[in-house]
Amino acid sequence: MKTMLSGIQPTGDLHLGNYLGAIKNWVRLLDEYYGYFFIVDYHAITIPYDVASMQPRILDAAVEYLASGLDPSKCIIYVQSHVPAHTELTWILNSVTPIMELERMTQYKDKAEQHKENINAGLFTYPTLMAADILLYHPDAVPVGEDQVQHLELTRVLARKFNARYGEYFKEPKTLMSEAKRILGLDGKRKMSKSLNNHIPLKATAEQTEKLLLGAVTDPDRKRRSDPGNPDVCNIYSLHKLFTPAAEYEECAKQCRCAGIGCVDCKKILAKHMNAALTPVRERITAYAAKKDFVIDVLRDGAKKANEVANKTLREVKSLMGLIADWQ
Ligand code: TYM
Repeated sequence: MKTMLSGIQPTGDLHLGNYLGAIKNWVRLLDEYYGYFFIVDYHAITIPYDVASMQPRILDAAVEYLASGLDPSKCIIYVQSHVPAHTELTWILNSVTPIMELERMTQYKDKAEQHKENINAGLFTYPTLMAADILLYHPDAVPVGEDQVQHLELTRVLARKFNARYGEYFKEPKTLMSEAKRILGLDGKRKMSKSLNNHIPLKATAEQTEKLLLGAVTDPDRKRRSDPGNPDVCNIYSLHKLFTPAAEYEECAKQCRCAGIGCVDCKKILAKHMNAALTPVRERITAYAAKKDFVIDVLRDGAKKANEVANKTLREVKSLMGLIADWQ
């Protein structure tokens, strides 16, 4: 069976961008690919974070993975730092990573801009750790949202560089994106992200979801209820397409264009469909959160299996590089 691999940082509640852009797609792909899904704690320490809440956030992420439909019989779920080979391969890949390539990374530039007081080396070599995360498991595909595409291109560059230097070994994985590859935030402008605080948490209640949607930016030129709007520039309309039946969202668009419907009503329709789709996931979040022992077992078992695969790769890599002695 083909394999896929992906991960999410435990930076707090997962949001609709993570769910629609990544996890929902992972679950869909489980019929075709065996999955390696991990919680990316080593990447998350490259920006300031609250130490005391790290472990609860890791467990919350695991709960949300399971609740979203990641079935542990079709994939393994683990924590990145529980597999030391990730950081060991990062060091090795650092030695084939051109600094210029890292300087080009838009996510690095954005994060360095956001955290001017803490531009650390980890933030800079973040994409090399990501390449190690991936290459250790030889996946066929990496399903991600659009913001990770550049990192995956670099992963392929590093695989080629390693292969050119030490012999053909790493496979170049392909990037898989869902139709929801870039979900905009409630500001209607920038991608949905926890750090921009323009997000809807996956585990928000139905009431919180509606409230957040009611505050979302729509067509900026539609200032009054009587102004006709343009759904093509409205993020609420983009979200409708992901949750509302086609006939109903097309009617919303038609009524928006002639000011037949106001933004509040349009948002309430979206909230209804969004909540209907997410309620089962939210119920499962509550159920898994009450089964901490089960969740911990999933992570333990996942780390055991991941370590087996990753250590085998690392040994082969070191052997190709002349780093294994015959007495070792
Ligand atoms: P992270 O934690 O920022 O995001 C996790 C996944 O969610 C997707 N995503 C979005 N998709 C659509 N619209 C959005 N607004 C949105 N926000 C987030 C991301 O594209 C991603 O797929 N560096 C990665 C984590 C990582 C990783 C890996 C991923 C580390 N190693 C190896 C794949 C393979 C990150 O920070 O994602």
